[in-house]
Amino acid sequence: MPKGMVMFKTRILLAFVALALVAVAQGVIGYFVMVTASQNVQKGRVANELLVGYMDLLSNKQLLRTQLTSEMTGLESDPQQSQVYYYNMIRALDTLDRLAETSKGLTRGDQELMPEHEERRQSLVILRKGVDQLGSVMTASEWKFEAVTPQQKRQKLDQIFDVSDGQDLRVALTQSIARERLITARDRAAADVSLNFMTNVVVIATIGLALFMVLLAFYFVRSLSKPVERLIKGAEALQAGNLSYRIPAFGRDEFSQVGCSMNDMAREIARLRANDQQAREQLELQVSERTNELQEALHRLEKIELRRRQMFADISHELKTPTTAIRGEAEISLRHGGNSNAECKETLERIVQYTQQLNYIVDDMLTLARSDIDALVLDRRAVDISTLCHESIAYFRPQISQKGCAVEAQIQSDSLVLGDAQRLKQVLNIVLDNAIQYSGAKAVIRISTASVEDAENMRRCEVTIEDNGPGIPENELSRVFERHYRGTMAKLIRPDGSGLGLPLAAAIVRAHHGTIEISSEENKGCRVTINLPAFDSVIEDAV
Ligand SMILES: Nc1ncnc2c1ncn2[C@@H]1O[C@H](COP(=O)(O)OP(=O)(O)OP(=O)(O)O)[C@@H](O)[C@H]1O
Ligand SMILES: [Mg+2]
Repeated sequence: MPKGMVMFKTRILLAFVALALVAVAQGVIGYFVMVTASQNVQKGRVANELLVGYMDLLSNKQLLRTQLTSEMTGLESDPQQSQVYYYNMIRALDTLDRLAETSKGLTRGDQELMPEHEERRQSLVILRKGVDQLGSVMTASEWKFEAVTPQQKRQKLDQIFDVSDGQDLRVALTQSIARERLITARDRAAADVSLNFMTNVVVIATIGLALFMVLLAFYFVRSLSKPVERLIKGAEALQAGNLSYRIPAFGRDEFSQVGCSMNDMAREIARLRANDQQAREQLELQVSERTNELQEALHRLEKIELRRRQMFADISHELKTPTTAIRGEAEISLRHGGNSNAECKETLERIVQYTQQLNYIVDDMLTLARSDIDALVLDRRAVDISTLCHESIAYFRPQISQKGCAVEAQIQSDSLVLGDAQRLKQVLNIVLDNAIQYSGAKAVIRISTASVEDAENMRRCEVTIEDNGPGIPENELSRVFERHYRGTMAKLIRPDGSGLGLPLAAAIVRAHHGTIEISSEENKGCRVTINLPAFDSVIEDAV
């Protein structure tokens, strides 16, 4: 693993191990310093007790001497007291022996101090001997006799107390005290040094440990702050909805792993959100498409309903006139019972005429109603439009001559279309009828056919019927294909018209996949253009 990328748990473990090692090292050093110090303190204490023991021995010796002197001189004194002082000296010597052994035990292995112990031992031997002699003298009765002079007694006393085995007891004791004083001072100084050293060690170790811990804390704070800062920044960005934000890579420790996980999480959330968004958009699209479809269906239904109502209205309106006329004729005829045969025949002929008119209207309305529901049944065959044009002109020939109109025909032969001959002739008749009816006397009506190509290069057959009559005013022109719409002038010229001609013609042409257009210039005439797909192009298309 590259430098600086150690996992944090390893770093923390190492830090705690280092701390534990430092603590153990401190403990070991402290232990040894403390053992040394306690040894020195103990040595000082023993030296001090030795000094006290010697002083005790010296004071009891002095007291015993004074006591014995008093006894010798016959001064009143407690005879048991000298025994007490003597035994005190023995006890002091025992204590000194024990302390000397302890002191030796404390400095075992220290060769330098061996002469010192030897010296102490010898002094104690001398003192012991002196005290033993003192005891034996004290129990001897000769020096207590009254025969012995005070001078002799004094000499004996001096000999017992001050000289032991040829050595001066006083000097031995004084020297021992002096020596123990020195040793006590030395050992105390050593104990003080050890204690000072121990204090220093404790202070330095505490400061060192504290410093080490501060350094560790500083290191961890430093190495934690940056990655934590990056993570916080990333978390804040995510919280604010910025899913494109990525926490920068900074190693492979735990924080980097958390950062990578957060990046993955952001990526996943963004992906899910995009999916959600896509699904929602798709759903919205489907809903809007479905809504449009439903709206269209609703419109269609509304239209059908409107047409249905219109159809019933048309039927009742259109049938009213001829049926009223038929009824009127019949009633008049019945009222005048004595009608002659000729009158009856006339009445019946008019009734037949009205019935025929009724038939036409019913027929037209049926055709329109069927075209509304796309159920116009066509008997499709190859039909020559030119033939239909000639037939239509022939059909209106009586009216044309009656009105004094002129018909100019420019009809191309073999203009074949695929369609219902009867229906197409009906279209031509409607248009020609209008031209004859509304153009007035002496009008010129032009009928022409032509073969043309549409934008998709498909051949079409075009029939144009023009007249030079009064034409249609601009405000009426846009309404002529509406059912039952009739122009003002048309109503005057032919009051019995139904306004169904052009809507019917348009429905038939539409059923043949063609178009019908009307254009007009007021007082200059009208032009109706019927455009139908040519037979061969329809067949080619089908193939
Ligand atoms: N050649 C024309 N000249 C002038 N006006 C015309 C011409 N052709 C049609 N129109 C106008 O168009 C209207 C609608 O014609 P359409 O054939 O549909 O009904 P109509 O002729 O009035 O009645 P009908 O149902 O008996 O034919 C007419 O009322 C008339 O105003
Ligand atoms: Mg008409």
